[in-house]
Amino acid sequence: MQVDKIIVKTQESNYPIFIGSGAIGLLKKQVEKLCPQTKKVAIIYDKNVPNIFKKKINKLLSKYKIFIKDYYSKEDLKSFTNVNILIEYLIKNKFNRSDLVIAVGGGIIGDFSGFAASIFKRGLNFINVPTTLLAQVDSSIGGKNGVNSKAGKNLIGSFYQPKLVITDLSFLKSLPKREFICGFGEVLKYSLIRDKKFFDYIKRNSREIINGNDFNILKYLVLRSAKNKIHFVIGDEKESNKRMALNFGHTFAHGIESSNNFTRKINHGEAVLIGMLLAIKLSVDKNICSFKTLKEVEKIYASNKLPSDLNKYLNRKQILNIPNLMINDKKNDDNKINLILLKRIGKTTIPGKIKMSVSQVDKFLKKIN
Ligand SMILES: NC(=O)c1ccc[n+]([C@@H]2O[C@H](COP(=O)([O-])OP(=O)(O)OC[C@H]3O[C@@H](n4cnc5c(N)ncnc54)[C@H](O)[C@@H]3O)[C@@H](O)[C@H]2O)c1
Repeated sequence: MQVDKIIVKTQESNYPIFIGSGAIGLLKKQVEKLCPQTKKVAIIYDKNVPNIFKKKINKLLSKYKIFIKDYYSKEDLKSFTNVNILIEYLIKNKFNRSDLVIAVGGGIIGDFSGFAASIFKRGLNFINVPTTLLAQVDSSIGGKNGVNSKAGKNLIGSFYQPKLVITDLSFLKSLPKREFICGFGEVLKYSLIRDKKFFDYIKRNSREIINGNDFNILKYLVLRSAKNKIHFVIGDEKESNKRMALNFGHTFAHGIESSNNFTRKINHGEAVLIGMLLAIKLSVDKNICSFKTLKEVEKIYASNKLPSDLNKYLNRKQILNIPNLMINDKKNDDNKINLILLKRIGKTTIPGKIKMSVSQVDKFLKKIN
């Protein structure tokens, strides 16, 4: 398969994303080109990435002194304590700023490793090799890294651009179906917030996307999502305005994940799917969006059996706690919950326009549950 290249141009730096099956073969040459001073490489693997890839990557980087960490990716890996342990390990092994950290895993490994790389000696080289659909279409792009706090999701973090992203679709061969559903959530988000044509494409191909067997479809998803994400990130790398539209469905999702104590009972992508549906229902409730649009989106959920019902994941007490947790979201700048709502397919409300109190969100959740 041909490998495509997208350049992400940020205020700090420009970096390439290589997309295609077999793209990992470019790693050695790219490291030599982009990190010419590097002597030591820490590779942060997700335990579920098949060994065949790990052997290949280790071999590609055999001229460097390699340090390997292999983690189970759970949300609780994304903690300040674990980042500190990794940083102490790098210090003990005498890493310096010209050395390199490579994340090979899903969004959890990427967020965790990227954050550690960003604060180690104020930043060393970082490369992201996303291995889940969600990480390939979303979390590996845009330079946001971070870990969770007890008070909420991703509350500790940094904006730090990688030197390079390698999106090799062949990693997805071993990905469980549940994870394709999670990736579907973020892909659907891009279509809903900006890209009606993409929405129609997703609607037509939803079954194939979730089956995850058609690499041409998957490549198209990554390319189109990347272009949409880059649109929001460029010029607002540090999320002061435009980029906040990417938060569509996520304020609810982060409340849902927090209320569930970040356990695997509900994954991030599943929480995003439910969060987007809640955001659309709220948009209808506020007469911002038509009921017809809600029905059109609900049809995709029903025909693909996507997560839609909070009651399947959380008990009543946990559901009613969601608004209290949403107020901790880092996009809030006062004691109101800042929400992005949907006007129609491909168009959201302006960031900062819709603000609700905890009791207003509470009332809405009680009304629909
Ligand atoms: N930084 C950002 O901009 C951003 C954006 C969206 C999401 N996120 C974060 O990303 C995280 C979710 O990422 P995710 O959905 O990739 O979850 P994840 O990292 O937990 O991966 C999902 C599951 O897939 C497994 N896995 C990974 N690669 C595999 C492979 N190739 N084959 C088989 N199994 C594999 C993992 O072990 C895990 O069990 C959340 O913490 C979320 O907050 C960050």
